[in-house]
Amino acid sequence: MSDETLLELSGLRSGYGAETVLQGVDMTLGQGEIVAVIGRNGVGKSTLMRTLCGLLKPSAGRISFLGRDVTGDAADLRARAGIGYIPQGRDVFPELTVRENLLVGEVAGQGRAAPDYETVYKFFPILKERARQRAGTLSGGQQQQLAIGRAMMGNPTLMLLDEPSEGIQPSIIKDIARNVRTLNEQTGLAVLLVEQNLDLIVSIAQRGYVMEKGRLVATLDRDEITSRDEVRKHLTI
Ligand SMILES: Nc1ncnc2c1ncn2[C@@H]1O[C@H](COP(=O)(O)OP(=O)(O)OP(=O)(O)O)[C@@H](O)[C@H]1O
Ligand SMILES: [Mg+2]
Repeated sequence: MSDETLLELSGLRSGYGAETVLQGVDMTLGQGEIVAVIGRNGVGKSTLMRTLCGLLKPSAGRISFLGRDVTGDAADLRARAGIGYIPQGRDVFPELTVRENLLVGEVAGQGRAAPDYETVYKFFPILKERARQRAGTLSGGQQQQLAIGRAMMGNPTLMLLDEPSEGIQPSIIKDIARNVRTLNEQTGLAVLLVEQNLDLIVSIAQRGYVMEKGRLVATLDRDEITSRDEVRKHLTI
């Protein structure tokens, strides 16, 4: 493993009860990279994300983060180590205010960084405007921004971003793409992105993997992941 490696997966198997979904995944992600995992519905993309953030326990294989074996670490430990997770469907706490949702995100950064509301508000001004509003009353796009902001509160080194475009209007998808790219450029934040939205993939990913039935079956280099025709091939049925 080189000094530049942030995340390394080898032979990762994981699933639900007796059902194995991930069939042995090998992957590396460098410091500060934006890498996309693309693939059709139900191939195991979210299962990969849940296994990486510690919500699912792998049945075999190894996860190494910043040179340390974190395979046996629970989700809270991984969050504190710098793995931020933004689940598919966002999962903000609807009854809590925007500000309270961000407060929940502070926990992940404990011991590593002081909570930084101003940076979150700079990237997502709507969250400052709506700080006292209940999160359940926000639009889907605003909730997605809140979910990203909540992860930012933990000052992660790696962000796991699971289908942020789902159910969101194109103008907000563009905003989110721009913000993620800026975060990456300004802070060196690495991003593992799961997506099916062509525009978002080609506009932010620097490299990619194609997933089919719980396996990574192809890699896409920079030219390929930024080519709409190439990416489309792996998304359409
Ligand atoms: N909580 C669960 N319990 C049991 N099986 C599940 C659970 N969640 C997902 N699965 C199954 O695991 C497989 C992979 O699902 P997963 O959610 O990882 O796919 P995905 O690639 O994220 O799909 P999508 O693009 O629709 O989000 C599917 O067959 C799905 O039915
Ligand atoms: Mg999914």
